[in-house]
Amino acid sequence: MIENSENKEELLAQADGVVRTVRLVFIIILVFPLVLYFSSKIDFEQEELTKVEEGPIIENGIDVERGLIVDDNYEMVYGTCSACHSIDLVTQNSATREGWKDLIVWMQETQKLWDLGENETLILDYLEKNYAPKKQGRRAPLKDVEWYEL
Ligand code: HEC
Repeated sequence: MIENSENKEELLAQADGVVRTVRLVFIIILVFPLVLYFSSKIDFEQEELTKVEEGPIIENGIDVERGLIVDDNYEMVYGTCSACHSIDLVTQNSATREGWKDLIVWMQETQKLWDLGENETLILDYLEKNYAPKKQGRRAPLKDVEWYEL
């Protein structure tokens, strides 16, 4: 009878030990991913911050550093058209698509501008859209006016 109760206590103590170990393992399993999650989140936020700093500064649709209107392929246009002279030569000018094409041909014939290959179409698309001749200062003539009888 005495031996029996000693056995029981021993069993209980063992069971208690098992419960503690299981609890400890559970805590580790739960806490570990949380720590990983939060540390990766901090890394992620820092990455986002540096990304913002690396991006171009854009004001009123113009890339401040490059001086070009931001649109499709503008970085390629910048790379190509600022190789020999300031990009200001481009941004201070405006022309129709044909006008820009003529200018490119002129630079190719006299200024050693290379064959632009497939990029020529993209560059002309960009210039035609963003550096077209300025709108005329005069308003268009009035049309379809309903004059009232005097
Ligand atoms: C291989 C060199 C070179 C490259 C690349 C180049 N240009 Fe030029 N460009 C010149 C030279 C040289 C002049 C004459 C500069 C001067 O008059 O001081 C010029 C002049 C110009 C002018 C002024 C023309 C005028 O009537 O005064 C414009 C606008 C121009 N380039 C646009 C462009 C565009 C758009 C591109 C990109 C497609 C480009 N350039 C790429 C060499 C180049």
